[in-house]
Amino acid sequence: MSRLVLHERKGPYAVKVGSEEIHICGCGLSGNKPFCDGTHKKTLDEKDDMFYYDEAGNRIKFAPFYRTSEKR
Ligand code: FES
Repeated sequence: MSRLVLHERKGPYAVKVGSEEIHICGCGLSGNKPFCDGTHKKTLDEKDDMFYYDEAGNRIKFAPFYRTSEKR
């Protein structure tokens, strides 16, 4: 079974672990999950559009069938 997972965040979560700060991927695109690897930079120009990223990292814009939580 496949699923589409919606990620609205465009950057990592900074988490303090002892005296160290680590960055957990919030965009869903990292190749080194759960850690951020900087791939989120691809999302910075998304604005309000919705995109699908394939396994090669190609971005495909599509018409949303799902209303995002912009009013949260
Ligand atoms: S937040 Fe996902 S790669 Fe940085």
